Amino acid sequence: MTNLSSQVGVLRRGVINSLVAFSIIVSFIILFYKGQEVHVAIGVKHEHQELQAKMAAEHHEQLRGKLPVPDAGQEECNWSTGQWVYDNVSRPLYSGLKCTFMFPEVACDKYGRKDVMYQQWRWQPHGHGCDLPRFDAIRLLEKLKNKRLVFVGDSLNRNQWVSLVCMVEASIPDARHKMHSINGSLLSFKALEYNATIDFYWSPLLLESNGDSPTVQWLEYKIIRADRIEKHASAWRDADIIIFNSYVWWRKHKADMRMKVMYGSFEDGDARLNEVEMIDGFEIALKKLTKWLGENIDKNKTRIFFAGSSPTHSWASNWGGEDSNKCLNETEPIYKDGYKGADYSMMEKAKLYFGTLEEKGIHIQILNITELSEYRKDGHPTVFRKQFHPLTKEQIMNPASYADCIHWCLPGVPDVWNEFLYGYLMYK
Ligand SMILES: *[C@@H]1O[C@H](CO)[C@@H](O)[C@H](O)[C@H]1NC(C)=O
Ligand SMILES: *[C@@H]1O[C@H](CO)[C@@H](O)[C@H](O)[C@H]1NC(C)=O
Ligand SMILES: *[C@@H]1O[C@H](CO)[C@@H](O)[C@H](O)[C@H]1NC(C)=O
Ligand SMILES: *[C@@H]1O[C@H](CO)[C@@H](O)[C@H](O)[C@H]1NC(C)=O
Ligand SMILES: *[C@@H]1O[C@H](CO)[C@@H](O)[C@H](O)[C@H]1NC(C)=O
Ligand SMILES: *[C@@H]1O[C@H](CO)[C@@H](O)[C@H](O)[C@H]1NC(C)=O
Ligand SMILES: *[C@@H]1O[C@H](CO)[C@@H](O)[C@H](O)[C@H]1NC(C)=O
Repeated sequence: MTNLSSQVGVLRRGVINSLVAFSIIVSFIILFYKGQEVHVAIGVKHEHQELQAKMAAEHHEQLRGKLPVPDAGQEECNWSTGQWVYDNVSRPLYSGLKCTFMFPEVACDKYGRKDVMYQQWRWQPHGHGCDLPRFDAIRLLEKLKNKRLVFVGDSLNRNQWVSLVCMVEASIPDARHKMHSINGSLLSFKALEYNATIDFYWSPLLLESNGDSPTVQWLEYKIIRADRIEKHASAWRDADIIIFNSYVWWRKHKADMRMKVMYGSFEDGDARLNEVEMIDGFEIALKKLTKWLGENIDKNKTRIFFAGSSPTHSWASNWGGEDSNKCLNETEPIYKDGYKGADYSMMEKAKLYFGTLEEKGIHIQILNITELSEYRKDGHPTVFRKQFHPLTKEQIMNPASYADCIHWCLPGVPDVWNEFLYGYLMYK
């Protein structure tokens, strides 16, 4: 396990200033599923904002008294396989309506979702003594004191960031915290008393790409720059804890979908454009990221995670429903043990690349949240979220056409992803 003891700073290198000449500005993404076109607004307006809030610490005393069972840190425990247990006593961990940092794309109860069971499931890993440690925001903030944790990736990683800051906000004692969106790509939460920072940085394809503007997500085609990561890396190179993710943007939504890859640059006059399979594009990104981490990460300072693929539930026939309904009106998990619908091969690839860093003593911990999320066909916003574009008549007639079965309602599934993160930070 990575040791976080030393305070040695990361080498600061010159940041290559690069111009991405090909951003395409539209504010929603069109995803193609098996040739069917569905519009899912993933774009969220990051208005420049600065919020300050004061909160009472209702549960503070209770939380401090009960420490989690240390057993949970045992190596042989396997948090990624288990089952959902209905538990309306300990769940939800916070109120979605009260969380200051809630995002409209995942604010299901605010946008009219009336059933509540989806907020009341706890993840129970298989095996004795393998319970997930009980989340304690104060202990986490003590751990993050004078530190910076940053989530780097796409809107699913932002989903996890929102979940974590809501979990923390719900129990900060006479809290002083602050959210400050420094610019569109960086969302920042700070617990002032602890000088603890929890950020999200938008970088959906990890490399520099034409998807780099968080408000700009209608991309007819995607372009990555094979050798450009510095601009993004400058946003996370000083972090103490980094959680990367990247999955949905690489998936193939129609048979002929390919990734464009740019080498060199227009400025240097050696720009070259190539086209590869989406999965090969993912490998190009992994390779560059791995190389960067190997050359720049101070293993004594920085702890690195990669969040596993977040499954989608757009094809109801996978669990015995009608495809045309997608995940509409689902109110309960899939109970079939071992249910799998996602593509597990991408994380296997990621594991291979990251494995090459072990010889340098750099360990990238995978948060293997795929299987637990697979069961949760009931966990998505569907139509209960902010629509960033007015719905057409046709859409209103056919709710499945715009139902979001990709992101996750909060409180909900990503809270468990954060329990994994917490467990690793505290015990592993
Ligand atoms: C843990 O999960 C892995 C797959 O990730 C599996 O191969 C292994 O058998 C599991 N171990 C236990 C103790 O459940
Ligand atoms: C919790 O669930 C149980 C069993 O379904 C139910 O009887 C009880 O009323 C619920 N409590 C709350 C607070 O929702
Ligand atoms: C506050 O935290 C940042 C990391 O986010 C660190 O660089 C800085 O030194 C801390 N400030 C103090 C006064 O310790
Ligand atoms: C905003 O984000 C861009 C892209 O990551 C970065 O280069 C720039 O320095 C940021 N601006 C500010 C004011 O932080
Ligand atoms: C990291 O820590 C180890 C053991 O504490 C020490 O030997 C090594 O010099 C440190 N590396 C750096 C780059 O500070
Ligand atoms: C979903 O629920 C609504 C309201 O209860 C109902 O009108 C609609 O027919 C249901 N749709 C499906 C696909 O089950
Ligand atoms: C994640 O866990 C699942 C079991 O839930 C396993 O099949 C898969 O291989 C694991 N993936 C990685 C990358 O460890």
